[in-house]
Amino acid sequence: MNFLAAAGARRLCAVRAVLPCLWRGKYFSSGNEPAENNSVTPMLRHLIYKIKSTGPITVAEYMKEVLTNPAKGYYMKHDMLGEEGDFITSPEISQMFGELLGIWFISEWIAAGKNAAFQLVELGPGKGTLLEDILRVFSQLGSLLKNCDISLHLVEVSQKLSEIQALTLTEEKVPLERNAESPVYMKGVTKSGIPVSWYRDLQDVPKEYSFYLAHEFFDVLPVHKFQKTPHGWREVLVDIDPQVSDKLRFVLAPCATPAETFIQDDETRDHVEVCPEAGVVIQELSQRISLTGGAALIADYGHDGTKTDTFRGFRGHRLHDVLTAPGTADLTADVDFSYLRRMSQGKVASLGPIEQQTFLRNMGIDVRLKILLDKTDEPSLRQQLLQGYNMLMNPMKMGERFNFLALVPHQRLHGRNHQTNAHDSIQRTTVMQQNTSP
Ligand SMILES: C[S@@+](CC[C@H](N)C(=O)[O-])C[C@H]1O[C@@H](n2cnc3c(N)ncnc32)[C@H](O)[C@@H]1O
Repeated sequence: MNFLAAAGARRLCAVRAVLPCLWRGKYFSSGNEPAENNSVTPMLRHLIYKIKSTGPITVAEYMKEVLTNPAKGYYMKHDMLGEEGDFITSPEISQMFGELLGIWFISEWIAAGKNAAFQLVELGPGKGTLLEDILRVFSQLGSLLKNCDISLHLVEVSQKLSEIQALTLTEEKVPLERNAESPVYMKGVTKSGIPVSWYRDLQDVPKEYSFYLAHEFFDVLPVHKFQKTPHGWREVLVDIDPQVSDKLRFVLAPCATPAETFIQDDETRDHVEVCPEAGVVIQELSQRISLTGGAALIADYGHDGTKTDTFRGFRGHRLHDVLTAPGTADLTADVDFSYLRRMSQGKVASLGPIEQQTFLRNMGIDVRLKILLDKTDEPSLRQQLLQGYNMLMNPMKMGERFNFLALVPHQRLHGRNHQTNAHDSIQRTTVMQQNTSP
């Protein structure tokens, strides 16, 4: 059975973002972005107070406060995704993206023996668009999944985004849970009858057989930055500019800081970014997958331990100086996939990273595009589909900058050559998926 034909073109989704919008993988900060809005934001006041009280803070602490401070954090109170927001992501560009990921999960489920139940867990689900597209594929392949007990588990810190996710998935406003002690802060049922729960932390998601998804999640986790100096590695800190009292600046720590232990002994770069929180999440995922089975699919822009200074900000589809008007712009750093693989500590097999264009092509995006194009004569929809395809696949756009990494139990690859190039392994996995008969 060909999944793409079965998932068919029964539904062509409404027009998504009008391109071009800005996707965050592309740009690097020059450090000289115009400080076009130097307003003293509540977050800036909070940070200045904090620095005055305890001294300069690490970039990781700065990033964490600016993005996810419960009261003033960038992610907490507004919707930043899409034309009206600050940046665009793949699921917001084309329905094909989520549909093909949905097929990847189903084929992993089949290949691993069609467990009677699974949890689909998404980290940082944005507007819920990716899950909506995945669930549509699940519905269309209902005959395959009809005896499988599926539940959704969303790990989200943003109240605003969790409200949007609830509307997308359940078409209802879902109230906050009354029991403040419960790790589940919202609970609902999707349009297709699947139970969905929201958590603030992956640790709280039940440790059951699960498929995990993290798309543009790891890049928002806080990074520590280090500069090599004649005196050894020194951590980059954020301090108040002595010349301008309501302005922040970068300084180097005068001596070694604890986070320096994260730097590899054989590091050859002169500037590095490390994300210990990403390591904690990967260790948790690896532990869970090795104990209960399932798989994780991680997609993000990143590198394999080669890039140096990738910390940057986005606002209104433009690069934004990271220290200006904090709390009003997104902050991000490229994901170091070599670090993620290292942090899995051999508990699971890590496949990839491979480039987005390779992953999507192996999953059958060309066939899917043709099916969707054949379904509509509407010129604007056809143009939208073609533009979306180009944005996702073009090497000059998202095709090469975004990468996919899969974590699977070692047994899942039993009988295969574990040492084979991870690139080939993930390719074989995906090619197999399109030809598997249920
Ligand atoms: C860049 S957006 C990506 C959204 C979505 N995955 C997409 O591709 O459209 C990052 C998402 O991660 C969430 N997030 C950020 N930090 C988080 C954290 N520490 N724990 C859980 N979610 C977080 C944000 O609220 C948002 O939903």
